Parts: sequence; structure tokens; C-alpha cells
Amino acid sequence: MYYPQEIVDEVLANTDIVDVISAHVHLKKRGKDYVGLCPFHNEKTPSFTVVPGKNMYYCFGCGAGGSAVTFLMKYNNSTFTEALQELADRAGITLPVRELSEEAGKREKHRQDLLAVNKETATYYYKLLRSRRGERGMRYFAGRQLSPEALNKFGLGFADGSRNDLTAYLRKKGFSDDLILESDVALFNEKQGVHDRFWNRVMFPIQDVRGRVIGFGGRVLGDSKPKYINSSDTEIFDKGRNLYALNLARRSKKDYLILCEGYMDVIAMHQAGFIEAVASLGTAFTPGQASLLHRYTNRVLLAYDSDGAGVRAALRNIGILRSAGLDTAVIDLRPHKDPDEFIKKEGKEAFQERIDQAENSFFYELRMLSRSYTMDDPAQRTAFHREIAKRLCRFSDEIERDNYITAVADKYLIKLESLRRLVASYGEATGYGDQNERGRAGTAGYAQAYRGGRNGAVETGRAAGYAQAYRGGGRNGDRETGRTAAGTGAGEQVHGARQAGPGAGEKSRDTRQTGAGPGRQGLDQGQAGTGSGRQEKAGPAVRAGRPGGASPLSRAELALLNKQRMLLTMIIDERSVFPIVRRYLTPADFDGTLFRKTAEILWEQLEQGGDSACAASVISAFDTPEEQEAVAAMLNARAPEAEDGPPDPDGLGRTLRELVIAVKESSIARMSRTDGGSPASLQDLLAAKKLLQTIRTARFNV
Ligand code: GTP
Ligand code: MN
Repeated sequence: MYYPQEIVDEVLANTDIVDVISAHVHLKKRGKDYVGLCPFHNEKTPSFTVVPGKNMYYCFGCGAGGSAVTFLMKYNNSTFTEALQELADRAGITLPVRELSEEAGKREKHRQDLLAVNKETATYYYKLLRSRRGERGMRYFAGRQLSPEALNKFGLGFADGSRNDLTAYLRKKGFSDDLILESDVALFNEKQGVHDRFWNRVMFPIQDVRGRVIGFGGRVLGDSKPKYINSSDTEIFDKGRNLYALNLARRSKKDYLILCEGYMDVIAMHQAGFIEAVASLGTAFTPGQASLLHRYTNRVLLAYDSDGAGVRAALRNIGILRSAGLDTAVIDLRPHKDPDEFIKKEGKEAFQERIDQAENSFFYELRMLSRSYTMDDPAQRTAFHREIAKRLCRFSDEIERDNYITAVADKYLIKLESLRRLVASYGEATGYGDQNERGRAGTAGYAQAYRGGRNGAVETGRAAGYAQAYRGGGRNGDRETGRTAAGTGAGEQVHGARQAGPGAGEKSRDTRQTGAGPGRQGLDQGQAGTGSGRQEKAGPAVRAGRPGGASPLSRAELALLNKQRMLLTMIIDERSVFPIVRRYLTPADFDGTLFRKTAEILWEQLEQGGDSACAASVISAFDTPEEQEAVAAMLNARAPEAEDGPPDPDGLGRTLRELVIAVKESSIARMSRTDGGSPASLQDLLAAKKLLQTIRTARFNV
């Protein structure tokens, strides 16, 4: 949702920042300003300062700072839109409503209706549990040792023996049978007509990241089957793209999230203070869920059941998480079955210890693998070592691979040199890195890109985050080409332009870990300066910016980066551009995860029939302030043509063609570097080259 700068300014002008912040931080007056303990880092003496005169806050300790909007975004981990909405509500300002095409408007209305049915249903079950009719449900939850706070926090409810009460209740609220059925809280058959889907079950409302109820899980009170019934997927409920309790877990300050199997596990964990726990929704974990997790963290710990099914699921999901570029480890719950049972029997301190001892997922895989070999049989032992070597080859990053080789040799008492040779022989035969790693390469930079941006001096702060974002992509490219290069046995980077890559990539990773604040200071000061920080020009900073840690981008990389940025900005600024661009490009043609993700969001918004996409709505589709800042910087760039004088349609078309060609060419170059082998990709490559020919001769009438 795009809000014009005037609206943002008006909201901020009508907001008392001291008021907003003191709801969350205890502030004391000092002179004209207010000070308190910074909520964004641990401190004993207050260095967190609110300056009402400038409508901003700043922390001298960690460098956090900005406007009331950035404060709420950061404090609540919310989007720009959510934060602005909250402030507008406080100030009694009505934000303008997005104008939708008729069709898109209808669809949006329909989604809102489905959400309303779910909300009413959740309220109904919630109240029922707390009424006399809910006693059985209450007894059940008490038996599971859930506190009243936990019952409330998760909005738990109860469906009693009646088959029609919910349906009747919803009808009375004015919902049509069609809508009730479509929400999947009721079913239809000849005999019963429209009747409640859930009865005699305790009810778990399932919420999306924003806390809106989108579906339900219902558990039997006893041992009958099926133990759980979940609502089917609907237009608002996609089980593969949501996670139980993520709306709560995203507020966790830990740098990992814990993925469990069951709703009850999650609730038990939250009750014990582990608010970083989430679970999938009664279906197998999906890549969509992995990338959802990746928006909030780089590291996922699995707390799966310790039985055979749990181990199988863990092994399967490690692969999915790894492919999404997530660092993964496994929590050992033995001798207990699941987190719920573990916490009940051993307590939360013991559970925290298990978290701290979580086993690196690669070692976990090897340990599980080792179970199927008899180690005192030399032949089997050799076979095991070979399998290990094969798996080690999947690390395309040489340093990472070597670290693992050393650790594995140590752990399984294999002679280091023999293991190295074994790995090298496999690597030379088949190349380093496999599909897994390739998948990972596709998204790994994501987190680096956004969570990285912590180096660079004040005025290059933004550029740093931005260049890093690009670097994230660059580094991925490197992982890919690195594999090819290593596969030939050369072990050196072949592509000149790429040589700077790994170094820079590693650096941005390092700076992320040691993470001092100047980069952020740059960002946040910039924000405070303009009230919302969406007005700065990123262009010059990007050109001039040489972030402290990262090595300079090559001219070619910089040029591509600017072209991609101009193209995305053009799509936003000039709506007639998109139908042309989409003929020739897909988001996958963009290099660098920040760009690709932005393109994905734009494509999605514009293809779904939205009349227009706006910078702010794209920005608010990103979830963390870091991402939003980086994207805001990126999208603030304008094509130079657009700035001088009136637009010249011919010029626009020419520029557009040039930009599309540049992006396509670079995409083709990447394809031929990374995907040389397989026939399918060869086909893709040929198709892309053909398309490029078409672009060169096509008409670009903007
Ligand atoms: P408790 O057994 O009450 O401790 O629940 P739990 O949440 O720990 O469940 P469990 O570990 O047995 O299963 C994990 C998750 O799988 C559940 O939370 C449900 O989402 C899902 N699940 C379990 N049983 C069923 C079932 O019969 N049908 C469906 N659709 N999903 C189920
Ligand atoms: Mn359980």
C-alpha cells in the first residue's frame, strides 16, 4: 500500500513520539529530552534518547534511531504499513484506502469476508470453552497443564457435541451458507444439510503472520482417530505457506527459530518461555514454509519427535531448510518423545541446555546414516566413508568443505589426508556442490543481504546495505561458478568479474557476525532526518559508497546493478511498462536476491490485476526494517531521463529496451556459467537467447 509522503508526514506531525515510545520504554525527562534503557540492546545505564523537538529517538549505545514509525517497526517487528496504521489510529487520521480495479476489489472483499467468518468462528469456540458448555474442554487443557495465559494467548477454544450451533451462529451474524462452506468451518451433505465441521474437539485457531485467523485445527479429547482435523486449504488458508505461532515467534529476539511437529509442542514451549517455537500445519513441511522462516531468521533448530517418524521427517526437512539457505541444527530430546513431554519432565532449563547443544544438521545426518553400517566390518566401514565423502562434496565452498572434512575426520576417526583425497577424487569426478547446494545458492544471500547491512560509514550506510544485498547475490553466483571451477579440478575462480566475489561474500558474513553499529547508524539517522526515510536518493551513495568491509563492485557489476534498479523503478513509476517487460523477463532474470525478491513482489502484484504497484507497497511486502530500508534505497532511484524535463515516450521506449536487454544478457551469461550440463537447461538457454533476439527487434511502445 502506497502512502504519499504528505500522509506520512501528517501522521508523524500528529504523533507525540514520547507518548508512543513511553508505552514500551520507561522514559525519564532530562533537559528537553527523555532518556531510558534501550529496548534494542542490553544496557544498564540509559543511552536511549528521545528528542521530542526533532520527533526522533536515538541510542548512543547501539546506534538505533529513527522516527516513531521506525521505532514501532523495529519494536514490534512490523511492516511500514502496520506501523503507520497504528500511528494513524492513535492520531485519529484515516489513511486513504487503496484503489483497486473492480475485479481485484471483489477478490479483496471476498478474502475479507472469509477472514471475518474465521474470526467469528474463533470467537465462538473461544467463548464456548470459557462457558459451562466448555467444561470438558477446560478439563482437557488442564490435564495437559496449560495455563490460562497460554489458553488466551493462543486463543484456544472448544467445539462441543452440537452439529449445528456454529452454523446457526454464523448465519445469525449474516454470513451466507456459501461463504460459511467456503470457509470450511461447515460441511454439506444431503442428510444433514449445512452442518458444523468440528464437534467434540478442542480448537486451535491458526493465525497468519499478521495474527489473522485463517483456519483451525481440532483435537479429539480422547484417543479416537483422527486425532486432529484441520480445515482444508481455502483462499486465505494455504497450509504450505503458513506456520503455527509464527505471528508470535517473529517477536522473538533470538537469532534462531525452533520448528516443532505439533501444536501442543509449540504451546508448551511458549508457555515455558520459548516463544521462538513454530510448527507446520498438520501437513509435511514445504519449501514455501522454509522461505517464510527465512524472512525472520537464518537459523532453524528442529525439535522433532525422537521416534522413527520424527527422525525421518527431520532428515527430509533438513534438506528443505538447507535448500532455502537456512543454517540448520537438530535438538536431541531423548529419552523423551517430544518437546511437550521433555519440558514437563525435565523443565525449561534442561530444555535450554538441549537448545544450546543442538547438533549441526550435517553431523546429525551422518550419525543417522552411520546406523545402517556395521563399523567393524571393513567393507561396510569403507562404504560409509565413501558415502561421507560424497556428501562432503556437496559443499561447494572450499573453506566450508575443508572445515567439515577436518571435523568429520576427527569425529569418525578417519585419517584426515585419506578423507581429503577421497573427497577430492569424488569432487573431480562429479564436481562439487549438488542440487541441494544449488538451491541454497539461490537464496543464501537473502539473509546475508538484509541482515548483513552493518558496515559502512554514515553516508554510505544505506549504500552498504544495498551493495551487500547485491553482494549476497554475487556470492551466490560464486557458489555456483565456484562449483564449476572446482569441478574441473582447477579450484580457482574462472570468471574474472567474479573473482572479488567470495572474499566480499565472506566479509559481509563476518561483519554481520561482529556487527558493530555504524552502518545502522547511517541508516537510522538518515531516516530521522526526513521523518520517514523514504526520500533519500540512493543513487549517488551507491555510486560513491565503498562500504568499509566489502570490496568494491566491479564496473560491470555496478552497471548491471544500476540498470536493474532503473528497470524496477520504471515499472513502478510508469504502469504501461510492465506488460512489455513481462513478455521478456521473469523475476528469475534479476541478479541478486534483493532485486529478484523485489521483482517477484512486483510481478505478483501487477499480474494479480492490481492497477499499479507502488514503492511503498513493495517495501511493506518485505518484513524486516533492514530489508525495507534496502529496498527503499533501491527504489528511490530514478532513471535519469525521468528527472530532466518532460518524459519523452520514444526515449522511454529506448531506455526500456536497453534495460531489458542488459538484464536478459546478464541472466543468459549466468545461465551459461552455471547450468551448462543438463539438456533441460540447455533448452532454457537456447530459448532465452532466442528471446533476446526478439527483444532486439521488438517494438517498445511505452
Ligand atoms: P498431542 O498428541 O496432543 O500432544 O498433539 P501434538 O500436537 O503433539 O501432535 P503430534 O505430535 O501427534 O502430531 C504433530 C502434528 O501433526 C499435530 O499438531 C497436527 O498438526 C498433525 N496431526 C497429528 N495427527 C493428525 C491427524 O490425525 N490428522 C491430521 N490432519 N493431522 C494430524
Ligand atoms: Mn505431543
